[in-house]
This record gives sequence, C-alpha cells and structure tokens, in this order.
Amino acid sequence: MKNLKFAVLPGDGIGPEVMDVALKVLRTASNKYEFSFDYDFADIGGVAIDRHGKAFPESTFKVCENSDAILFGSVGGPKWESLPPKDQPERAALLPIRKAFSLYANVRPGLLYKELTSLSPLKNERIEAGIDLVCIRELTGGIYFGQPKETRILENGDIQAIDTMVYKKSEIERITEIAISAAQLRGKKLCSVDKANVLETSVLWRKVVTEYVQKNAPEIELSHMYVDNAAMQMARDPNQFDVLLTENMFGDILSDEMAVICGSLGMLASASLGTGKNCHNLPYGLYEPAGGTAPDIAGKNLANPCAQILSAALMLRYSFGLEEAALGIENAVKKAVKDGNQTGDIAQEGVQPIGTSELGAVVIENLNA
Ligand code: IPM
Ligand code: MN
Repeated sequence: MKNLKFAVLPGDGIGPEVMDVALKVLRTASNKYEFSFDYDFADIGGVAIDRHGKAFPESTFKVCENSDAILFGSVGGPKWESLPPKDQPERAALLPIRKAFSLYANVRPGLLYKELTSLSPLKNERIEAGIDLVCIRELTGGIYFGQPKETRILENGDIQAIDTMVYKKSEIERITEIAISAAQLRGKKLCSVDKANVLETSVLWRKVVTEYVQKNAPEIELSHMYVDNAAMQMARDPNQFDVLLTENMFGDILSDEMAVICGSLGMLASASLGTGKNCHNLPYGLYEPAGGTAPDIAGKNLANPCAQILSAALMLRYSFGLEEAALGIENAVKKAVKDGNQTGDIAQEGVQPIGTSELGAVVIENLNA
C-alpha cells in the first residue's frame, strides 16, 4: 500500500476550516482507494508571524522539506495589512516558499460546470457548455524575482523604483514541457501568451516555445497571442482556449480573470509543481485553493471547501500518481454541487445554502456511495 507523507499548512482566515474538511475527504478516499497517509502541520502566513515572528519560519521549511508534497490553505488578513508590503503574509510566505522548493509551474484549471453557468458574469449563451481550460503560469522567474529590484534616490533627489523582467531559455523550456503534458491529456491545443511586440523576454519566450513544441510535440496545435488580446478573448469566448501557457506576471493577471469568469473562487484549485522529485519519483508540489483567506466569513462554517478538496485531489494526481482517487474526489465534488449542495458563494436561485462541514459531509457520502 502506498503511503503518502505531506505537510499541511492551513494558514489564515478560512484556511483551517476548509483544510479540516479536505483532510476528512482524504481519509475517506484512502479507505476506498487503499492508500495510507500521514502529515505534519506547520504554521505559515499571519499565524506564523504571530507565533514565530516570520511568515515562513525555518521550522515550517523543515516540515515541508521532510514531506513529499505540501497541502496549503491560504494566507493573509486585515490583522497584518499594516506591515510593510514585503513583510505581509502573502509576499513573505508565498514567494519564499515558491523559491525554496523551485515551484516553477503553476497549474490552474479553470472549470465551470454547465449546471452552474448562472454564476459566471459572462453572458450565459457564450458558455452554454460550461468553461473548461487550464492556465499554466511560470512561477519562479520573470519580473517577480529578477534583479535589480529596488528603490533608489537619484542625484537630483528624484526617486526611482526598478523591477527587472528576466527569463532564461532553460526556464522557458521546462514550463513549456509542463504545458505540453497538459495539452496532451486534453485537446492538444496550446496557446502561448506573451507581449512580443514590446518585450525582449517575450521575443525569446515565443521563439523558445515555438522551437520546443516543434521539436518535442509536433502533434500539438500551437498558437501565440499578445497578453492584451488574450485578456479580451478570455472575456469574449473562453472556450477558444484549451491550455494557456504564460510567464509569471501575465499568468497572475490572466488566472484571476479566468477565476472570475468561472463564477466562484471557492471552486478553483491549483498546483505549483517543483523541479524536485519526491520519494515516489513524482514532482514535489504545493497544492492550494485559488481564492484568498476570506476573513469576513472565517470561522463561521460558511466557506466553500471545494477548492481545498479539489487541491487535495490534484496532490493525489500529480505528486502521488493516484489518478483514480483524484478523479473519484473530483466526481464526488461535482455531484454534490450539481445536486444542489451549495455554500453561499455558489448557491443558485432557490437553493438554501449549506455550511462548510455539511458540504464536506455530502462529498464524503458521494465518495462512499
Ligand atoms: C497568486 C497571488 C500571489 C502572486 C501574491 C499574493 C504574491 O496573487 O498566487 O496569484 O502574485 O503570485
Ligand atoms: Mn494572483
């Protein structure tokens, strides 16, 4: 029997309560699909600042290092908003943990069930079949990490701030490889997004992606799009895309746009895959919901647990190779929501919203059925 060892980092806000549900779902899945698991909790984000003085403490790094994957909740909240931006939980926890484990590939499925299209702000006749695409975002390069990155006082007293966008061919190739794998499992259509009419990094990006796909996966239908156009096309007709591939900053923006057209952040999971392999010889990864900490509803049993549950499913798929169990969980969530078991954020007209733990219980019931 396969034993999974992962780190559990619930973080702030709704993190702990949705994590609790996800762990219960994993427990049920482990009985049904015959695997075992154990995990270690560690603090991250605001709670870690409060308890250890740092958003990503060394002790948390150690717990993650001794695990085969990280199941992550969410970080941040009003309590820490007065800290300098670089010390706030989001930046001081998320960026270092991505760097520490070279989590270079952010995979975000943009999925909206056709039964829930009324939740999308898009005109429903444009998305009759629902929405189904995947955004692959480069996560450890580009303008987020490039040097120099600083604020300077000029000789004339003016102030200048600088961020640097930088990419290497090798960084572009490895993320293209991930995008190819995703496209091969889906509709074999890949759209690479850049700003090659303006940016040097984008010129290189386009060239490297083109050559890499031609050489390694000629069966993939590859297209290129400028990022401004891609933002527009996403709002106009999202299903023209199958797999989107883009650099760090463009991916940050486009993946939020994708999230909003899919109706609720509470449904969207994500995987951030690293260069390292775990003891199962699969990618080490961090799995987290795409939404935030929702401090206004934290601790009230109101949060939608689906994104956290679906993130756990992605962990089973990518870091532990348990495809059947991952699919089983995904189908259990889909059935629960389609049958009208909905938290406030996704409750359709005429549906009485249920709580976090109640929705979790229905998912577990579906898994056991
Ligand atoms: C995300 C977030 C982070 C990012 C922030 C909080 C640093 O917006 O995961 O998309 O910009 O990458
Ligand atoms: Mn973002």
